[in-house]
Amino acid sequence: MHKIAIFASGTGSNAAKIIEHFKDHPAIQVAVIVSNKNKAPVLQVASSNNIPSIVIDKERFYTTSTLIESFEKLEITFIVLAGFLWLIPQRLIEAYRNKIINVHPSLLPKFGGKGMYGMNVHRAVKAAGETKTGMTIHYVNEHYDEGKIIFQAQTLIDQAQSPEEIARKVQELEHEHFPVVIERLLKE
Ligand code: GRF
Repeated sequence: MHKIAIFASGTGSNAAKIIEHFKDHPAIQVAVIVSNKNKAPVLQVASSNNIPSIVIDKERFYTTSTLIESFEKLEITFIVLAGFLWLIPQRLIEAYRNKIINVHPSLLPKFGGKGMYGMNVHRAVKAAGETKTGMTIHYVNEHYDEGKIIFQAQTLIDQAQSPEEIARKVQELEHEHFPVVIERLLKE
């Protein structure tokens, strides 16, 4: 059995899609949601699906091993970042080498790195006059948005599209592909 921890601190629309996709799956289970905000809407998504959640603060996240200890108890085998903005600490990367993935709302390596999240990405894409954008699923390493790319999907941009419209298109791509790519990776 693969047991996934989803890290999310925002709306949790990707987390919700992943949870839905693996509901009743015989070999893959979403076992815990981790958030750094105690009021994040994603916590509602977790509780309404009877999935436990852990809210962590910065100090515990960066200076202790309590999260890894909790994961050992829960037998977590894989970590999915879906709207989690903190850099993952070295000890967690070492404990889950090549078992942590992230989704980013651009075609990396373009429009990645610290500060490039949410609407910042889509506004920058628009301002640069890009003709296409998309989403990237990649392994997580010690640097923001720099791990090996696993999967990308694209959408064309026409000049009339606003950053908000671009964001919606990219989110649709994320919802469509992220759960399927996770399943594919866990079957390999
Ligand atoms: C997604 O756009 C993802 O690319 C980024 O954060 C956003 C999370 O959105 N890393 P949601 O909370 O899943 O709706």
